Order: sequence, then C-alpha cells, then structure tokens
Amino acid sequence: MTNIKDDVICYCSGTTKEQVRALMAQGINELDLISRETGACSGCGACDVTIKAILTESLNLPNHRT
Ligand code: FES
Repeated sequence: MTNIKDDVICYCSGTTKEQVRALMAQGINELDLISRETGACSGCGACDVTIKAILTESLNLPNHRT
C-alpha cells in the first residue's frame, strides 16, 4: 500500500513525485514548467533539489548520454 504522504516532495504545494513523473511523461521536463503546473518551488524552495534530482535521474538515460 502506497503511503501518499511519503510521496509528497513539495510540502508547500502538496506536489507528489507521481505528479512530477506524470508531467514528465507529457514532455514537461523543466523545473520552471513543473513549478508552473504544480506550484512546487513557489514557496520555500526546499523541494528544488528533490525535483532537480528526479529530472536528472529520469533524463540521464543511457540513450541520452553524450
Ligand atoms: S517544499 Fe516546495 S516550495 Fe516549499
């Protein structure tokens, strides 16, 4: 059973990791755009590092290495 509270990555906006991944699946893979869509990073900014880590992890696929 998933604990929704554990999945929240921005406590100011209530944004979850799943929301970020869903946006990325739609091609929204920039911090500013994710912030605009979810409100993440628009409060204290503490989630900035976490969202950047998700973006880096997801975009750093073997096919994307140069
Ligand atoms: S935790 Fe995301 S803006 Fe505060």
